[in-house]
Amino acid sequence: MRIIRTITAMRRVISKLRLRRNSIGFVPTMGFFHPGHVSLMKASVNRNDVTIVSLFVNPTQFGPKEDLARYPRNLKHDIQVAEAAGVDFIFAPSVAEMYPEKQLAYVDVGQIADILCGATRQGHFRGVATVVSKLLNIIQPDVMYLGQKDAQQVEVIKRMIKDLNFHVKITVCPTARERDGLAMSSRNSFLSPTERAIAPRLYQALCFAREMVADGQRDASQIIFRIKKLISDGTNVSIVYVSCVGLDRFLPVRRIEGKVLVAVAVKIGNTRLIDNIVVKAK
Ligand code: PAF
Repeated sequence: MRIIRTITAMRRVISKLRLRRNSIGFVPTMGFFHPGHVSLMKASVNRNDVTIVSLFVNPTQFGPKEDLARYPRNLKHDIQVAEAAGVDFIFAPSVAEMYPEKQLAYVDVGQIADILCGATRQGHFRGVATVVSKLLNIIQPDVMYLGQKDAQQVEVIKRMIKDLNFHVKITVCPTARERDGLAMSSRNSFLSPTERAIAPRLYQALCFAREMVADGQRDASQIIFRIKKLISDGTNVSIVYVSCVGLDRFLPVRRIEGKVLVAVAVKIGNTRLIDNIVVKAK
């Protein structure tokens, strides 16, 4: 496995791969790898000639009061994990390499970026869409692998790809979970033991919502009410949002009809966690 630090060196590699007609799978990440990242890497390794993983903690997707400085990093560990997963190249540019001067051009994906997580993380998805468009222009992969845990991010990127005619397919892989159901996330490492013990409530509440739908509940407000109660009862969890949204434009629905995404975001102490499931009314 090779570690590549500059855009010029990455482009040189891509040109050679393209001459050899190698298919390129791409996994964009911010590092601090966990089994969720590994599942994306393996999905790519299994289906492409070459797998490239980007490892870049992107400053433009963090707000001024967010956790950019303390975002967990461990390059040595990440290199070992990616190598064991069969990755061929890690693209790990510096901030100066990706943003050599003040960025003037940004990718703004409109309404879908301003709801749910976007409502409280202003500019977050603009930063995500911008860095992903830069990475796609550098790496020019055939397929990009993303995780379902970041369902809104997936939708924002899909829409950007469609509207801006990027030539890349998206494969969405299922959320990787700990044994107790907690969605794997680099930010889980911030949780104290007490907070960690509370965190599985997110998934438990989402599973309860699925059961409510299976039992015939169709009123989204009832489902949201029960989820909020299950998560926050007797704890210091603050709910950022609980929402039932349609899968196409992520707009809130009043009734559960067909497939609906149930999405939650909470703050446990200082740590923001998200999770979601798709429920289906028969
Ligand atoms: O999901 C992430 O890790 C990041 O948002 C991404 C897609 C790598 C862009 O920085």
